[in-house]
Amino acid sequence: MNILGINAYHGNASAALVCDGKLIAAVEEERFNRVKYAAGFPAAAIRYCLKEAGITLADLDHVAVPRNPYARLATKLFYAVRMPSFARERIRVISKFTAIPAALAGAFDYDPSKIKAAFHRVEHHQAHLASSYFVSPFDHAALLSADGLGDFASSMWGTGRGSRMEIDGAIAFPHSLGLYYSAVTQCLGFLKFGDEYKVMGLAAYGQPEKMEAFRDIVRFSSGGSKFGFRLGLDYFTHHKTGPEMSWAESDKTPTLGKMFSDAMPKLLGAPARNPDEPLEQRHRNLASSLQARLEEVYLGMLKKLGSKTGAKAVCLSGGVAFNCVANGKIFDRTPFEKVYVHPAAGDAGLAVGAAYHVWHQTLGKPRSFVMNHAYWGPGYTQAEVRAAIQANAVSRGGYTLIELPEEELMRRTASIIAEGKILGWYQGRVEWGPRALGNRSIVADPRRPEMKEILNQRIKHREIFRPFAPSILAEKTGEWFEKSHPSPFMTLAYSVLPDKRDKIPAPTHVDGTGRLQTVTREANPRYHALISEFERQTGVPVVLNTSFNDNEPIVCRPEEALDCFLRTQMDALVLGDILITRP
Ligand SMILES: [Fe+2]
Repeated sequence: MNILGINAYHGNASAALVCDGKLIAAVEEERFNRVKYAAGFPAAAIRYCLKEAGITLADLDHVAVPRNPYARLATKLFYAVRMPSFARERIRVISKFTAIPAALAGAFDYDPSKIKAAFHRVEHHQAHLASSYFVSPFDHAALLSADGLGDFASSMWGTGRGSRMEIDGAIAFPHSLGLYYSAVTQCLGFLKFGDEYKVMGLAAYGQPEKMEAFRDIVRFSSGGSKFGFRLGLDYFTHHKTGPEMSWAESDKTPTLGKMFSDAMPKLLGAPARNPDEPLEQRHRNLASSLQARLEEVYLGMLKKLGSKTGAKAVCLSGGVAFNCVANGKIFDRTPFEKVYVHPAAGDAGLAVGAAYHVWHQTLGKPRSFVMNHAYWGPGYTQAEVRAAIQANAVSRGGYTLIELPEEELMRRTASIIAEGKILGWYQGRVEWGPRALGNRSIVADPRRPEMKEILNQRIKHREIFRPFAPSILAEKTGEWFEKSHPSPFMTLAYSVLPDKRDKIPAPTHVDGTGRLQTVTREANPRYHALISEFERQTGVPVVLNTSFNDNEPIVCRPEEALDCFLRTQMDALVLGDILITRP
């Protein structure tokens, strides 16, 4: 039985294919159309998923769409009456969603009558919850999804047992932890869609000196259920104007309208920062306070969820679940002993969640799949890699190209890293989700304090305050970090042990933490072998890992990897079995 999940007309458009309960493929549209966070209709992602399984549209039994326009209808109508422009936008979105079967047929130039699949609408947050629970290793877990907004809710929680989820509650528009983080991010002068993670990095440089103000911006709920939170709405505008987001076009990065009111900078004691203005210590302190308040509320919710459900494990999803700093504190501040965060915890992951929601929750099928790695996107054969090289300037401009047997390739590559050179590492299938996890990565020596600056100057061109991440052999985690719970998808940050911080300064953040990827041989044998060889040569079982790109979506095809290699000042590139070095 074939189930296609589609996240369409929403940020991070994506597709995923589940066949007889097993995930076959999952990928974001941005990897194909090269538009960061692309929204619109994910035609290329769907085409790839079908190709990977060797099936056509006619072979689909179910299509799952993570949107239910009828969810929270009363709340939607309440706000629609007050915000006519918002009502018009809702109607436009609903008509786009009703037209998904036609869009699907149209994208493939296909006769709609030949599509026999049943179409299902899965509520946004139920798809988020399903995306983490149904692919987790747990049979019993507490579930939490938290994001900006989807189907007029911003959070949902419940319990997973076997192949069923029970929903226990939700927080509806306009109260939202995601929008809280986005609004303060804007007030700090970071206006682009997806900039929240920059501010999370900035937070480590400040002190949370404005907690009183931030506790007024996000308040714990009083009365009724004390589980949730409410926003101090005076500081926001989205409840008056509607959340202004652009989701319809696939060729543009989505945008967010202004979400904070004049009362917010007034409360924080300084005007909103213009993006061109320098960052001052007060901005860092505000970022720190923003993060600290998020942690109070998020970890507070998780603590209550732990005692409510009695579960020892928790599954997390929604954009807020990318807050690796908060996630790293779950073990100390909540009853949970195990955490699973979906690698595409944001809205891309809805495609997987919607498909599994249909498989388990609708069709009642038993569990048979655990997502223990993130390599679900396109891979390219060695012949395709060779053809890409042939067509590229690296085959002419004096570059050295050598094809090496496995052991020799690892030895040479590890010594290139140990010499302080910057390596492009391109292997196997594309990662699912926003993190490069050793298949489309740039790898460097973690022992060199100057490496962060070198990477920024030569390749990444990003804000200096943003940290780089360590990949560590999973079996060595406890020797280098204060915690050793698996973090295979770089979604948890732990403190580096104090005596190890000066051994891996490049991926250790200013507060002594690292947003680590724990690498197992089972999940990625070749990356594990590379780090093992690096350890053999240097005594350090860690490499610095950053995504293979330069202000663009992570490279997908070998052609893009070659172009990025040539365009930037990377020293060497391993494409499959071929090592390429500069003249
Ligand atoms: Fe979402």
